Amino acid sequence: MSLFSLRGFGVSYRDRGGGLHPALQAIDLDIAVGRRLVVLGETGSGKSTLALALAGLLPRNAEASGSLARAGFAAPPRLGRDIGMVFQDPSGSLDPLMRVGEQIAEARHVNRGGGWREGREQAETWLERLAIPNSRASARRYPHQFSGGQKQRIAIAAALVSEPLVLIADEPTSALDTISQHAIVGLLREIAGERGLTLVFVTHDIALASEIADDVAVLYEGRLVEAGPAARVLSAPSHPYTAALLAMRLDLDTPRPTRFAEIDKRDFSVRAPGGGHG
Ligand SMILES: Nc1ncnc2c1ncn2[C@@H]1O[C@H](COP(=O)(O)OP(=O)(O)O)[C@@H](O)[C@H]1O
Ligand SMILES: [Mg+2]
Repeated sequence: MSLFSLRGFGVSYRDRGGGLHPALQAIDLDIAVGRRLVVLGETGSGKSTLALALAGLLPRNAEASGSLARAGFAAPPRLGRDIGMVFQDPSGSLDPLMRVGEQIAEARHVNRGGGWREGREQAETWLERLAIPNSRASARRYPHQFSGGQKQRIAIAAALVSEPLVLIADEPTSALDTISQHAIVGLLREIAGERGLTLVFVTHDIALASEIADDVAVLYEGRLVEAGPAARVLSAPSHPYTAALLAMRLDLDTPRPTRFAEIDKRDFSVRAPGGGHG
């Protein structure tokens, strides 16, 4: 079963002069329950637009077209409760003036009910699960008392404590050092496996993608050029763009002129694969 089904889905942003600029076009994609999907693409390819659309968080100047069905949810999904979201900068989701344990407990209370005692217990459980040392004492600290990697793990705890069906993580580790990145990806992979959580993990990092993905969707200039099982996409890509990226083994955040000197763009036949099976 699919949690999300996109058919001919597109998003354009309207500028102040009224002009429309497409950010996503003709996306056909199914996101299956319990799978870990990595959305891979370079900066500006439309990854965040897709993540925001799935979460129902597109900004007001965005105009969507085609269809995006959130079909696998029992009722219309609620952000926070059914869909958890984590962004690149954890400071944006953590309140600097509130103890981290209280923030996590509050998220639990708001989204799942239950008393404050249960909320506090859940907060400690999730801090521990996200490998925050000494979870009881840590729960009483404020965000600035933690490292960047710890803050992001706390933000993930605050998202997962509400037991959402899906966690959408938009480049959650891009601002962190390599060791923190791999630690967080490892934890997310484990937790998703334990809980049957559906994960949508957005990244420009092919190495991270290969560590966590069951499925990979590759965006290029707003189009889905390839989607399928990670083992297939990352070892035998069917699209020349993906093949070129893998052959070059470059981080997709590398400035364009360097990378594209090596890729002959005339070879591209950019199109959306039908039904996401390549
Ligand atoms: N709020 C916005 N208003 C106007 N244009 C936007 C907005 N957000 C993103 N864009 C544009 O949409 C395109 C895709 O951006 P984005 O989805 O952020 O890509 P990515 O996350 O892959 O870097 C880019 O050209 C970007 O400049
Ligand atoms: Mg982005």
